[in-house]
Amino acid sequence: MLILGIETSCDETAVGIVEDGRILHSNVIASQAGLHAAHGGVVPELASRQHIRDMEPTLRRALSDAGATLDRVDAIAVTHGPGLAGALISGVNTAKSLSLALNLPLVGVNHLEGHIYAAWLEAAALAPSEEPGFPLACLVASGGHTDLVLMEGHGDYRLVGRTRDDAAGEAFDKAARVLGLGFPGGPEIQKAAQALDDADPHAHDGDETVTQAAAPLPRAWMRNTLDFSFSGVKTALLHRAQDVGLYPPPESETANTERLVSHLAREFQESLVDVLAAKLLAMAEQYGARGLVLGGGVTANARLRHRILSDSPLPALIPRPVLCTDNGAMIAAAAYYQYQRGEMADMSLDVDPSLPFSHRG
Ligand code: KG4
Ligand code: ZN
Repeated sequence: MLILGIETSCDETAVGIVEDGRILHSNVIASQAGLHAAHGGVVPELASRQHIRDMEPTLRRALSDAGATLDRVDAIAVTHGPGLAGALISGVNTAKSLSLALNLPLVGVNHLEGHIYAAWLEAAALAPSEEPGFPLACLVASGGHTDLVLMEGHGDYRLVGRTRDDAAGEAFDKAARVLGLGFPGGPEIQKAAQALDDADPHAHDGDETVTQAAAPLPRAWMRNTLDFSFSGVKTALLHRAQDVGLYPPPESETANTERLVSHLAREFQESLVDVLAAKLLAMAEQYGARGLVLGGGVTANARLRHRILSDSPLPALIPRPVLCTDNGAMIAAAAYYQYQRGEMADMSLDVDPSLPFSHRG
């Protein structure tokens, strides 16, 4: 069964084509990151209009990359929430039009469930005996959400932990802004931190500002809960940036500016990665999970992926980075399992900007 998945919940116009929920035929993403970078964050009005421009060429590319035509497609899937209302509408209306014109079933998918199902696109490479099996401990960490979800079967989710303030991706984006790095912030912070791996470790020996910048930032452990909080470390980073003269942005760079930014980026990343990894592993143990699943833009982070793979006693399904950030293939993958359960939408499908995880357990 070939499903075409459409994703427009934020600033990526994306279309993917997936066979039987697992086999990736194509995955085309038109990113608007450049458009929003000048504003330091996603501007909803600009996002909606850009989706309209990018939708048709993205759709055509997804079909041609898959070597398919629309008459080969068996169902149309689309993200209908959570996300930006105006952005979601453009995907939902495209999906409805295709469904109506081609007389194909329509499946409305929750964006967060889509992030979880990106893992099934990687599981296609596993032998059935290697698949972890339920329950799965899932971390969905994106620009708008940081959720720990216990998945006890297909379509059966229990939210057991969430952020009480900023989402992890939002924290990365705000931290990058403080450090004068670009948007989106996560990849920029990762790059700045990685620069230290190749730098001469002794280049700034004796420089007190560099020593100060390289000290660990706090971790918000929030004992006895699987919830997260990232606003404290964000404030700690701002204060540290002020203390070492990086904020407000200095008029002219000094010899060690880049080094200071890299140290702050690394310590910020380490703080988030530590807490995200530890809470996911604690949750897995608490609920007797048989495996881990990572999803959402933040799980593209190389340090986080490395930590999970090295610390976890359980098998972990970690999508390749391009399947962690927003894409249409994950929507098509999730839709396959919904279709199997007979959960189809009709022409009344609406967008829901704050759609929660469905709970069918
Ligand atoms: O899932 P996603 O593509 O869109 C939403 O659903 O929000 O996630 C985007 C978020 C952004 O905040 C971005 O900074 C973050 O994911 N992100 C990363 C990395 N790549 C993207 N955060 C940390 N490290 C990365 N490599
Ligand atoms: Zn997302």
